[in-house]
Amino acid sequence: MPVPRRHTETIASDREILLAIVFACPVTYYILSIILKNSQVPLLVSIFILCNMLSRTKVFTSLIEKAEPHLTKLLQVTDVSNLSSMLNDSIPPPTTTVNRSRFDSLSETSKVELLAAIKSLQSYSTNSKKNNERHKKLFKMMTWRQQKLCEDVGYLKRLDKIDTSISKNQVLLKDIATQAMETYQLSFRDFELLKSTNKNNNSSSNYRVIEALGHYIRDWCPEGESELQFLVDNVVTQLNESIAVEDRHKTMVVVPGSGLGRIAHAIAELGSSSSNDKFGSVQAVEYSGLMHVCNSYMYNNSTDKSDKAKSYELYPYIHTSSNITEAKSQFRSIKLNTGGQQPENLVLNHDDFRYFEAVDASKYENVVVVSVFFMDTAENIVEYFDAIETLTKPTSKNNIKNGYWINIGPLKYGSAAQAELTADELTKLRKSMGWRDVNCVTTIDKPKQYGENGLVGYITDKQSLWQGYYGLNIWNSKRKENKS
Ligand SMILES: C[S@@+](CC[C@H](N)C(=O)[O-])C[C@H]1O[C@@H](n2cnc3c(N)ncnc32)[C@H](O)[C@@H]1O
Ligand SMILES: *[C@@H]1O[C@H](CO)[C@@H](O)[C@H](O)[C@H]1NC(C)=O
Ligand SMILES: *[C@@H]1O[C@H](CO)[C@@H](O)[C@H](O)[C@H]1NC(C)=O
Ligand SMILES: *[C@@H]1O[C@H](CO)[C@@H](O)[C@H](O)[C@H]1NC(C)=O
Ligand SMILES: *[C@@H]1O[C@H](CO)[C@@H](O)[C@H](O)[C@H]1NC(C)=O
Ligand SMILES: *[C@@H]1O[C@H](CO)[C@@H](O)[C@H](O)[C@H]1NC(C)=O
Ligand SMILES: *[C@@H]1O[C@H](CO)[C@@H](O)[C@H](O)[C@H]1NC(C)=O
Ligand SMILES: *[C@@H]1O[C@H](CO)[C@@H](O)[C@H](O)[C@H]1NC(C)=O
Ligand SMILES: *[C@@H]1O[C@H](CO)[C@@H](O)[C@H](O)[C@H]1NC(C)=O
Ligand SMILES: *[C@@H]1O[C@H](CO)[C@@H](O)[C@H](O)[C@H]1NC(C)=O
Repeated sequence: MPVPRRHTETIASDREILLAIVFACPVTYYILSIILKNSQVPLLVSIFILCNMLSRTKVFTSLIEKAEPHLTKLLQVTDVSNLSSMLNDSIPPPTTTVNRSRFDSLSETSKVELLAAIKSLQSYSTNSKKNNERHKKLFKMMTWRQQKLCEDVGYLKRLDKIDTSISKNQVLLKDIATQAMETYQLSFRDFELLKSTNKNNNSSSNYRVIEALGHYIRDWCPEGESELQFLVDNVVTQLNESIAVEDRHKTMVVVPGSGLGRIAHAIAELGSSSSNDKFGSVQAVEYSGLMHVCNSYMYNNSTDKSDKAKSYELYPYIHTSSNITEAKSQFRSIKLNTGGQQPENLVLNHDDFRYFEAVDASKYENVVVVSVFFMDTAENIVEYFDAIETLTKPTSKNNIKNGYWINIGPLKYGSAAQAELTADELTKLRKSMGWRDVNCVTTIDKPKQYGENGLVGYITDKQSLWQGYYGLNIWNSKRKENKS
């Protein structure tokens, strides 16, 4: 009986192929590795030969023939359009299963900000590793000798360790994203909204995520205390000067651009509820979806005490290799504890401060705006002045008796500022817009009183070879219409 030709051939060659593999692979690998030292190429070429030859053996071909029907089915299922139609079928529309009122009540801008924030939090590791990969590629442009010299002093090992540290940072960022998805009852389908709009993506860059990590240190870790305490002490001193302790419960404090929220938190914590000397309400107002979800993640009001407090190891200094003295300093880890109780009088608003209205503002006689590292973020600083005036000015149409404004911050305007006013010009503007200064200084004029030489750090890495410090403009002002 005639045996099919193909089979005779393969039977005959299976043994030969195996022999060839046993001989060819090691030889190829050995020769290539003599020529190309410290390279992956010999290994890759040998593996290529191995796979190529194995795939010609009869055993392999018959295996494939047997598996073919199953594979075809599998491929049909994983076809992308099929997959999405299957998902559409299997997941019922969210409106019928979950209460979406929280997400639906957000403005379009807030929705997009929130989704962009979640997406960038989830993509942190991928994006950061891509950047590290770029440095590895650039490194390969050097000659073998040059690469070897750098490798011997630990450069490549350090780049690898950056990747490991990125993965560790991702743990917190993923948890924040998951928490936000749960809070707003989001599903993958909501992210379609991001595709249809590109008008607002303040929270969509990896740079912002890295910035948020730095803010966690400054606001919520002992390592940030030296910068934070100075600001909090200053704010509290000015608050004490304007609002008597017994009037705090009649007072609302608004903190625009509240960032990761520690300053608003500290104000809300002042006093004790038993002696009724807490501020009636503290309104943190932050428009970045990223900052907002990161701030919210600090709190867990759950009454179920079981492991709601979580502890994370963060590596905030790994995102650049510039200005670093040693690896030890770059890989400093910092512990962040989350899951505390949100003060009852503290509200976290995800809003643009320029259009912010507090829901129960009419309950309070006094309104204080506390702007910290905020005024110079304005594109139109007069717009900020107008917004602050609207919130604080006593008029016949509101219940406000007294309005105050406490400010601490630098004057490092952004690139699109429409007016870049000096501290002196700001003082004159306050006067012309109905403010009466109780107090006004620039810290560099009082070097002994404020910080070191009147300069103050802002998320400044004290172990970096390059450090930024700011002179600050501080004022405490009251409305000319105030009753007292
Ligand atoms: C320089 S940061 C300071 C954050 C915080 N005050 C602190 O000291 O840590 C300024 C913050 O203001 C926010 N911001 C800027 N313009 C805003 C606006 N119009 N409404 C609300 N937040 C704003 C930014 O997103 C950013 O988080
Ligand atoms: C998947 O796609 C194939 C070819 O496009 C089609 O024949 C099949 O019916 C699809 N299956 C489902 C579940 O939609
Ligand atoms: C999935 O559902 C959305 C709306 O719910 C629809 O726009 C989309 O076309 C559906 N996709 C497929 C592949 O059926
Ligand atoms: C959804 O939750 C909100 C509070 O978050 C509540 O006011 C509303 O009645 C709920 N709606 C439904 C349909 O359960
Ligand atoms: C939004 O993102 C796109 C693409 O990443 C970028 O080109 C654009 O400048 C961003 N816009 C804003 C306002 O940040
Ligand atoms: C987003 O960023 C742009 C450019 O910085 C700014 O003009 C805009 O007001 C921001 N809007 C919101 C709501 O995030
Ligand atoms: C502010 O006033 C309170 C109550 O009188 C006092 O306990 C606190 O020490 C004061 N803080 C500052 C920084 O002046
Ligand atoms: C609070 O902690 C519990 C327990 O770890 C967790 O299940 C829940 O999602 C957390 N909620 C918030 C709002 O953080
Ligand atoms: C936690 O408690 C604060 C203060 O009572 C409240 O404003 C906030 O909405 C609560 N957060 C959640 C997620 O329930
Ligand atoms: C490193 O130093 C330069 C000034 O020499 C500065 O412009 C840059 O921002 C610094 N980079 C970091 C990440 O500190």
